[in-house]
Amino acid sequence: MKVLITGSMGHIGSALVKKIKIDVEELILVDNLLTQRFPSLFNLGVSHQFYALDISEEKNSDKLATLVGLVDTVIHLAARTDAAGSASDPLGVEHNNFLSTKNIANACSKLGRPLIHISSTSVYGSQKNLVDENCSISDLKPQSPYAETKLKEEALLKELGSQGLTYCILRFGTIYGFSTGMRFHTAVNKFAWQAAHNEEITVWRTALNQVRPYLYLGDAINCLIKLCQKRNFTNEVVNIVSQNMTVNDILEELRKHYPNLKTKFVDSPIMNQLSYDVCNAKSLKMGVEYKGKIEQGIDEIVGIFKGLKNEF
Ligand SMILES: NC(=O)c1ccc[n+]([C@@H]2O[C@H](COP(=O)([O-])OP(=O)(O)OC[C@H]3O[C@@H](n4cnc5c(N)ncnc54)[C@H](O)[C@@H]3O)[C@@H](O)[C@H]2O)c1
Repeated sequence: MKVLITGSMGHIGSALVKKIKIDVEELILVDNLLTQRFPSLFNLGVSHQFYALDISEEKNSDKLATLVGLVDTVIHLAARTDAAGSASDPLGVEHNNFLSTKNIANACSKLGRPLIHISSTSVYGSQKNLVDENCSISDLKPQSPYAETKLKEEALLKELGSQGLTYCILRFGTIYGFSTGMRFHTAVNKFAWQAAHNEEITVWRTALNQVRPYLYLGDAINCLIKLCQKRNFTNEVVNIVSQNMTVNDILEELRKHYPNLKTKFVDSPIMNQLSYDVCNAKSLKMGVEYKGKIEQGIDEIVGIFKGLKNEF
């Protein structure tokens, strides 16, 4: 397979590149270095081309289209991804994320290449009951500019789909697990960082017992690689979630490594978001496998701080 990955230096991209290399004959990586994770390109052990390109910029559209023409599948990971942080710069996040998706989707559409687009389960917002992909647009309650933009991007792909684009939209739960380009702004990773550095765990005041969907990084990567191999692009939306958990469940797991762990409650601009429990039945029917457990994700992250991981 020949694959282009946008946002390839990020938390997901850096793990994907290391695993996909087994199967790939052409690997094109694109990232604008926004988050400066240069180590993601160290020791890849696979022949690849890397382009430092801001894909939200119109002036880069021709270059982007040339790169898309060289591959048979595009995996689009490029985005500004701090949902809570998006509250302080909603227009900037929308500009970067929406235009990036628009440019890559237009290139895929023009050249007849399928697009794997990563959306987020945060589009569901607060929900009383277990939700699945049939939840109507009017019932979706995105609580951050980041999540609102994800919905807008999904709508754009649906529109382009009616004009010939083939795509798959994967609504990923919050990722946990180790990668060289990992970040620490999402729940599990952030808590593990704080615990490892003897800091109090900062829990959003309303969040302790609320259920949210999470996705083990290894499960996410396997799902992406399988989709590239099977080429089963049906222009659908699919939830990709390893397990739904409360913050308390995560803290209990961390306590096994750090028994004296302390927590403090903090406010967040998006903490009004209540529980939402996301169904992954559709993905299971499609053959997605979930092997990652929270114990494993936490072991991996704790391992890097305790010096147990020698992968570098
Ligand atoms: N990490 C999660 O918990 C999570 C959950 C659900 C969905 N997602 C989605 O998965 C995708 C990848 O997430 P991630 O966790 O790897 O994010 P990340 O922030 O770690 O990586 C994103 C990468 O995109 C690059 N980028 C940003 N804007 C760009 C632009 N205009 N042009 C080129 N590169 C650009 C950044 O430099 C960064 O390396 C994103 O769409 C994100 O919204 C992530």
